[in-house]
Parts: sequence; C-alpha cells; structure tokens
Amino acid sequence: MNTTDQHDETRQGEALVQEGTAGRKKLYLESYGCQMNFSDSEIVASLLQKEGYETTNKPEEADLVLLNTCSIRDKAEQTVRKRLHQFNTIKAKKPGLKVGVLGCMAERVREKFFEEEKLVDLVVGPDAYRDLPNLLDEIDGGRKAVNVLLSKEETYDDIEPVRLGGNGVSAFVSITRGCDNMCTFCVVPFTRGRERSRNPQTIVDEVLGLWEKGYKEVTLLGQNVDSYLWYGGGLKKDFEKASSMAQASAVRFADLLHQVAVAVPHMRIRFSTSNPQDMSDDVLHAIAAHPNICKYIHLPVQSGSSRILKAMNRGHNREEYLALVDRIRTIIPGCGLSQDLIAGFPGETEEDHAQTLSLMDCVKYDFGFMFFYSERPNTYAARKLVDDIPLEVKKRRLAEIIERQQQHSLQRNQAYVGQVVEVLVEGPSKKSPDDLFGRTTQNTVVVFPKKNYQPGDFVQVLVDRCTPATLLGESLTAGVE
Ligand code: SAH
Ligand code: F3S
Repeated sequence: MNTTDQHDETRQGEALVQEGTAGRKKLYLESYGCQMNFSDSEIVASLLQKEGYETTNKPEEADLVLLNTCSIRDKAEQTVRKRLHQFNTIKAKKPGLKVGVLGCMAERVREKFFEEEKLVDLVVGPDAYRDLPNLLDEIDGGRKAVNVLLSKEETYDDIEPVRLGGNGVSAFVSITRGCDNMCTFCVVPFTRGRERSRNPQTIVDEVLGLWEKGYKEVTLLGQNVDSYLWYGGGLKKDFEKASSMAQASAVRFADLLHQVAVAVPHMRIRFSTSNPQDMSDDVLHAIAAHPNICKYIHLPVQSGSSRILKAMNRGHNREEYLALVDRIRTIIPGCGLSQDLIAGFPGETEEDHAQTLSLMDCVKYDFGFMFFYSERPNTYAARKLVDDIPLEVKKRRLAEIIERQQQHSLQRNQAYVGQVVEVLVEGPSKKSPDDLFGRTTQNTVVVFPKKNYQPGDFVQVLVDRCTPATLLGESLTAGVE
C-alpha cells in the first residue's frame, strides 16, 4: 500500500555512463512528481546529449543542474524550493554552475523564479524542451533565459529518450500530453496545456525498440490515457472539425492497446492513468483479450460522494464509477485496482467523507495514493470555492482513508496466500540482498529468495505470507544453474 504517490516525495539524480566522453559537459538532472516528469527527463537527457552533455549523479561535479518539477500540491513546490536553496551552497563554491527549473512549476511560476529564487538561470516549461540548446546559449552569455510556451502539437515523438536510472526491465513511453478535463482542484491543465496524442506508429516503434534492447515491460503514459485519439495530428478538442476520412480512420486507446500488444507479444504492457469518464468497454475487452496486457487499472476516484464529484467537475458520479468497477470485474476477472483520493475538498461534510469510506468498502482497492486537498493557484476551486476544511480535519479524514486502505490492501493480499503468481523480477529487494523483488500482473509487489534469478526473469512464486504492501513466497523452480 502506498500512503502517498510517486509524485512529490521522489527525486532521482541520474548517472549515464558513456565511453569516450572525457571533456564533455556534465548534467545533473533531478526529477520530481509524476511518471510523466520522469519520462520527460529522459527526453531532456536525449536532447542535451546531442549538445555534448553526459549525465552525472553527483551534483557537485555538474556544469548544469536541472530540476524537473511538480506543482500538483503545495508540498511538492516547497520541496523544490528547499532543494534550490541547497544548490545555492554548491553554486557559491562553483560560480560557473548553471541551475535550471523545468516542468510544471517552471510553467506556473515563470519569470517570477528569477526574483524569488535568485540562483535560477533558466526556466523551461514542459512543451519547450526543444528550445534548450538556444536557451543554454543565452545563459552561457550570462543572461537569464525562459521559455514557457505551451504547444498544440508537441509530442516529442521523434526523440529517442535516454533511459535514465532504470532497472533495464521496465520503461515509460508517453502517448498523450496535456489534459482537457479541468477537474476543479487540478493545476495540470494549466501547466501542461491542451490534450494531444502521439502518432501511434512512433509509439509502436519505440516499444519495439525497447523490446529489442531487452526491456520486458512498458508503461504507456498520459494524464488520461483513455482519451487517446489519433486522427493524423491535432488537438483532441478539434476532432469534430477533422475530415470524415480522418475521423473514420481514427485510432483510439483500445486500438492502440491492440497494436502494441500484437507488436510485442512477450512484453508486459501497462498504462497510466485511466479516467473513469473516458474508459470504454472496448478498452476493457482489449485488456482481457491480450495475455501480455497487465490485469491492473489505476482508476482515480477522488471522492465517494456524488455531490463532491460534481464540485470537482469529475465526469462521473458515485453510481457510474461503481458500475464501471462492476464491468471491470466482469470483463477482466482478477483485475487489480488502485485509487487516487482527496480528503477535505472545499465543502466536504462528514457525510461526504463517510461516502468515500463506504465506496472504498464497495471496491476494496488493492492499494491507493491518498492526499489531503491542497489549493492550487488559478484553478476553479481556488478562484470560486473557499478552502474551508481545517487542516486538522483534512488530516484526520486522510488518516481514516489511509487506515481503511491498509485494511483492504491486507485483505486483498491475503487472498493470494497459497496461490502461485507470475512475477517479473525488477531487482534486489530493498530489505535484503538475498531477496529479489518484482510485480505480479496486478502490480502487487512480491519478494522472494534470489537463488540464481536475474532482473528481467519471469518467475512462478508460491505466496506463503503477506503484509499490506507485499507478498512473500518461494520460487517454484531452482533458477537457472
Ligand atoms: N490524471 C493524472 C492526475 C494527475 S494528479 C494522472 O495521470 O495521474 C495525481 C493525483 O493527485 C490526482 O488524481 C489527485 O488525486 C491528486 N491531486 C491533484 N490535485 C490535487 C490537489 N490540488 N490537492 C490534493 N491532491 C491533488
Ligand atoms: Fe488533473 Fe483531472 Fe486532468 S486530475 S490531470 S485535470 S483528469
């Protein structure tokens, strides 16, 4: 079970070892927030590799430090600000060092960064990474540089990402950028712009390339993957204006899943994030039809109260969401489900909160990512609603939600005890070097004795015990001698 998401707390400095790179400039790249940001950092590393930068995981030896930032909650932004202050110390000792801010916070704060955080030299929004070489030239000349233009077309579809810090087993491939949904609490539509989809052929090619390099799992990424729509380019919102021929040959998310699943039949395929309002039965049937599409759906719900869902401008109510969960359980038996939930949205009553807990009881998610509401500047909620739930009430409701999820995660995991599950090994267990960890198709973490298994192996494991977060067991074969 996760009590928080992979969003704000994570950060990663990246090392890329290359041969014959003596004398090259060094880039230290740190990523915060969602998987999309980590994926974008791989695009940035690729663009800068062409400019003669190699990545390092030691900030003190870098010529350029870039922070790929997250704005989703206030805490995420505070973490980045603290980190920028730490780079102040390094910069004091190394005056030539340049520091840049990328991603959602760059888009939100813009030029104000130069006043607020004096040491920042460069501010680049998520759609402007191709401009990095020009912007770097500008800061080399001693000026500050900023580009936060959002694009209607940019999908970086021709750029081969440099895979950073991964395990060589699992990789991300982005399929859409931006979001048109305008959930009233969410800053993403402001920081990442309008929704656009990437050419499916370039997606299939990138996945095939990963398979050829030995990757065993790919996660297709978008803010709302179910609304993927390719009709020869263009924004999702302009689809109605496209020619009837373009409309007739459009590729939707279910079609894309079929294409990818067929192209790499022995590779595991995951996707994130699904939005309940856009998830069609065609997508569920595509998941059911292909053994290599993982039986797991991350299906954020945000609240169990229809009244709050309406205020959040989510495109579904409680009943529609539960009906979708029923269809998932019917069409994809044994499918793993996880949630995102927000406690303490403006106007949330104890009755609304009780409805959230009761929805959790109905679904019994395998795990979840849970937060208390954080007002974000410029969103509808910030402009029109009063952030009226006291912090201690938000925190108490969140604690109750987390506790409920912990119970459900334990129950879900207990149901696997005594069963054999297939695990894709990702690497050594954090707790013991004698154990490996990997995931089941349902995305549940499994830890088992290493024997001779390697990352990338598919292993049959008999589960003999569990915690709310992990299944533990023994592999059924001795491993490769
Ligand atoms: N569709 C996106 C959602 C991005 S934000 C995706 O791909 O994951 C991830 C989660 O952060 C949301 O589902 C929501 O639960 C949470 N979140 C977003 N804005 C928030 C806010 N203002 N306060 C608290 N949590 C928020
Ligand atoms: Fe945010 Fe809602 Fe889009 S949560 S990313 S506006 S689907």
